[in-house]
Amino acid sequence: MNNTGIFYSFNTLNSSKVAEKIHDILGKETVDVVDAELVTEEQFLKYDNLILAVPTWFDGELPNYWDEFRPSLEDLDLTGKTVAIFGLGDQLRYPENFGDAMGIMANIVEAAGAKVIGHTSTDGYTFERSRGVKDGKFVGLMIDVENQDNLTDERIKNWVDDIKKDLVA
Ligand SMILES: Cc1cc2nc3c(=O)[nH]c(=O)nc-3n(C[C@H](O)[C@H](O)[C@H](O)COP(=O)(O)O)c2cc1C
Repeated sequence: MNNTGIFYSFNTLNSSKVAEKIHDILGKETVDVVDAELVTEEQFLKYDNLILAVPTWFDGELPNYWDEFRPSLEDLDLTGKTVAIFGLGDQLRYPENFGDAMGIMANIVEAAGAKVIGHTSTDGYTFERSRGVKDGKFVGLMIDVENQDNLTDERIKNWVDDIKKDLVA
């Protein structure tokens, strides 16, 4: 049984592309994908390593599917779980809420006991405020396909290289 799952909405345009690239790099045979729109508590608890796609919507909020799962998520015991989050956002259009949802999700899973890995530098991004930043770093990988899609592949590769060493074998 695979112990790593990538959770993303299969209906999205941008998250799903990033998720598929991460899946390709990590290995399709050894990593599962789960549709975040249909996610259950059992699926969430099944994996040691969870990679979560969290685009920011509605001026600094979680998308509907994560928001709907939020009460269940807050009740789970995620002690011992390793979580890596990638966020999507648009720094030009939403400079005061850039990638907020990534930070919201990190807070939820950390409060539930999980360890969040894969923090990244904010160098190379221009924005005013982000709840996705903690102690001067993004709490995960921040992808901006609207304004910096030319950097997406390299950012993904570097991040996957980084988190690989922290995923539970
Ligand atoms: C209605 C709407 C609200 C958005 N709000 C934010 C926001 O507050 N902060 C941000 O960084 N990006 C925001 N975005 C940009 C999205 O996060 C970005 O387009 C992302 O790539 C969408 O990913 P998805 O296609 O996987 O949902 C918003 C986009 C839309 C359409």
